[in-house]
Amino acid sequence: MSLRPASSVNIADLRRLAQRRLPRAVFDYIDGGAEDEVTLRGNCRAFETIAFRPRGAVATPHCDLRTEVMGTTLELPFLLAPLGSSRLFYPRGEIVAAREAGAAGAVYILSTLSGCRLEDVKAGSSGSVWYQLYLVGGRDVARAGIERARAAGYSVLVVTIDTAVAGMRERDHHNGIKELLTFNPWTMLPFLPQLLARPRWLAGFFADGGLMNFPNIMIPGRGPLPYTDVTAALGDTMVEWKDLRWIREAWSGPIVIKGVHTADDARRAVDEGAEGIVVSNHGGRQLDGVAPTLRVLPEVVSAVGTKTEVLFDGGIRRGSDIVKARCLGAKAVLVGRAYGYGLAAAGGPGVARAIEILRADLIRTLTLLGCRSIAELDRSYIEDL
Ligand code: GLV
Repeated sequence: MSLRPASSVNIADLRRLAQRRLPRAVFDYIDGGAEDEVTLRGNCRAFETIAFRPRGAVATPHCDLRTEVMGTTLELPFLLAPLGSSRLFYPRGEIVAAREAGAAGAVYILSTLSGCRLEDVKAGSSGSVWYQLYLVGGRDVARAGIERARAAGYSVLVVTIDTAVAGMRERDHHNGIKELLTFNPWTMLPFLPQLLARPRWLAGFFADGGLMNFPNIMIPGRGPLPYTDVTAALGDTMVEWKDLRWIREAWSGPIVIKGVHTADDARRAVDEGAEGIVVSNHGGRQLDGVAPTLRVLPEVVSAVGTKTEVLFDGGIRRGSDIVKARCLGAKAVLVGRAYGYGLAAAGGPGVARAIEILRADLIRTLTLLGCRSIAELDRSYIEDL
């Protein structure tokens, strides 16, 4: 297979390209999930259990992909999800991904665990950019991050509630991601061959300044949080419902709560004033064994679908998956790995290709369904197997 992203036919092709370019530890960080990865696989497989009910002989000359989210019209019914440490995947990864999202008319969501300054990410994108908040470093540090995000022009704050501690990502442990990040030659030694086997990635990594830090987490008197493995960082991010009160005071714009997967939590998020929620199990990276998000989506939509905007993520690898989530009531979806593979494979052109693959899939799927627009999709276009 050619290494050019343009010749990738689907997201699985981009995944293979990413695997060829990245050291194993970095590829597995993107690709892997928690423990036995039951939820990770289940998220994808859940889409296979839903069948379409197309309408024949309906012409759809211009499929309309637009959808309304948070009072604005999105050109595409998917957003690029926050991916921690994207700068490890590709030089200046977050800036590159946000730029491509903007050019394609897709919203980009920046993770707190970013290797690039949030101001640079926003300035580099012509589109709308949201900020995802982790409370790493405590309340004052988070408040300073929120203030910077507001000043830089981020439009929505996404608060993740499913990271009381990092999930047990066993691939990361086996690959020695923690040891590699010490940059201590002795600790790193057993894991070095995987880096040396990927000279293209290594050259890019050093040209980008080598080991990054987290410039959006400014620790008073110490500066940016030094790069650490995500397990350590996520262990320090617990959000409680009561935190929503001060977060609301610090941020006057819309708030989206990410990591909801029961009707009860969805109602609670609405009671706390969330303008939106994301039905999400963190891409199967946190609590392994929770239900696939597609299975819990209907429960959440019937509980709060008229009171808040229900977004969705988990397992989306094709435009037809986005259509199914929309039929089950999601306003729009977040895609994470789908564009992360593209970024890791080839930087900007890889992200652009991932977006284009999903866009073309969406148009083809709508056309074959005999449906003219994303807005018209509903349960009548699918059946449960
Ligand atoms: C960060 O949010 C991660 O899941 O690694």
